[in-house]
Amino acid sequence: MKIVVINGSPKADQSITLQHIRYFMEKNPAHDLEIIPVAGPIARIEKTETLFREITEKMAGADAVIWSFPVYYALIPSQLKRFVELLFERCRPDLFKGKYTTSFTTSINFFDHTAHNYMQGVCEQLGFAYVKSYSAHMDDFFHEDKRKRMLGFYEWFIQMVEEKIPVARKYKIQVPKPIVYEPGSMDQFPVVSDKKVLLLTDAGPEDTNLNRMIDQFQRTCSMEVSLKNIHEIHMKQGCLGCCTCGYDNTCIQKDGFARFFNDNLKTADIIIIAGSVKDHYLSATWKKFFDRSFFNGHAPVLKGKRLGFIVSGPLSQIQNLRELLEGFGDGWHMKSAGFVTDEHKSSEDITTHIRAFAQELVLAEDRDLEFGARFYRVGGGKIFRDFVYTTSAVFMADHLFYKKMGMYRDFPQQKFKKRISNAVFLLFVKIRPMRKKIHQRFIPGMVAPYKKVLGKLSSHKS
Ligand SMILES: Cc1cc2nc3c(=O)[nH]c(=O)nc-3n(C[C@H](O)[C@H](O)[C@H](O)COP(=O)(O)O)c2cc1C
Repeated sequence: MKIVVINGSPKADQSITLQHIRYFMEKNPAHDLEIIPVAGPIARIEKTETLFREITEKMAGADAVIWSFPVYYALIPSQLKRFVELLFERCRPDLFKGKYTTSFTTSINFFDHTAHNYMQGVCEQLGFAYVKSYSAHMDDFFHEDKRKRMLGFYEWFIQMVEEKIPVARKYKIQVPKPIVYEPGSMDQFPVVSDKKVLLLTDAGPEDTNLNRMIDQFQRTCSMEVSLKNIHEIHMKQGCLGCCTCGYDNTCIQKDGFARFFNDNLKTADIIIIAGSVKDHYLSATWKKFFDRSFFNGHAPVLKGKRLGFIVSGPLSQIQNLRELLEGFGDGWHMKSAGFVTDEHKSSEDITTHIRAFAQELVLAEDRDLEFGARFYRVGGGKIFRDFVYTTSAVFMADHLFYKKMGMYRDFPQQKFKKRISNAVFLLFVKIRPMRKKIHQRFIPGMVAPYKKVLGKLSSHKS
């Protein structure tokens, strides 16, 4: 049994995820596993056609392929994303037809599901037979029971391959032929607001629809829009995962990315991200941009800003992409401005929706509109809080930020009043005859404080 492991961690041999693969190898010495790093050498792989062919031929010749990578910003690292793009751009459509594959990741379990969904989507589109993947927390390895579970997963996967057990396809995108957006004559709306809109895009000349949508948005928006193309930042590489930024938010890569982020994103009121769908995400350049923003650590440095998206491509068919983009904004404590796409029947319809998007933006800004803190922000906030608290030696800057912003006050242990009232309640309900009596008053009791506030409001009115 020949297995090719694609190592997508920028840390190559130092990858935590890869140590898990090595563990599987130790436990199964008869299996022939070859590890191929693709993140560090991605620029060379892209430039050297023979190297790219060598890798893809090995993948095609193996019995199975395992993708080993860390979760980066709800997806795979940008370097691996570029590798996936190259597979779509350069491989014949049947190269991986029916080949078994799966993913193994480590992370802190924040938006790991979208990374796994993404890999399943792209692998299925490339023709692979995708077997359900495994998401480990980066600390799981040190628990014997969890190690046993991962090993169980690996050995189950091998058995699936050996016995050629059929797997059902999960994602099928039916991409309708996109229309070419012809905006027609464009009205220029006057600027009436002093709010600053930063419109970031990766659009190249080939992104006809996206460029025209951006143009239309700029004319329609009654706020000043500053347009920046992220290609002009000249990011040298993707995030290296070195975590040096953890101490004081300084990135070791000196290519102007951090300055760009600080000067432009942190000073804007509204940020609009504009990109075209590429495979099941935006481009690898956008991914590089998001990954590199890791120099800010886990602090919601864009908190309170409004975030919207202009997307060209079949976004409505890729719920996973929509979810992770929304989650990204929520995780950063930003206010949602929603999406506008070119998935409409006519150019007139696209124009109507771009105008509506711009109008909604102004209305929302005027009212300081928010939609409540949902699971992404609340759940993610707790994951980050616990993580930063227990890794404060490395993520020192985050720790100071969390302390300053009172983000540790959210620990349940700190809520003394609630803990005392719960303890008293517990004492009473432990006494069985009392439990019945208390429970009869439980539902009215829960709603009573709400009614009290409403009662006060209506008595103020009269
Ligand atoms: C740029 C960057 C982005 C990350 N994004 C996420 C994330 O979205 N969700 C998560 O759970 N962990 C995230 N992590 C944590 C890594 O997934 C985790 O540390 C992983 O174990 C690293 O694996 P590796 O050593 O194999 O590269 C991120 C780490 C970095 C450096």
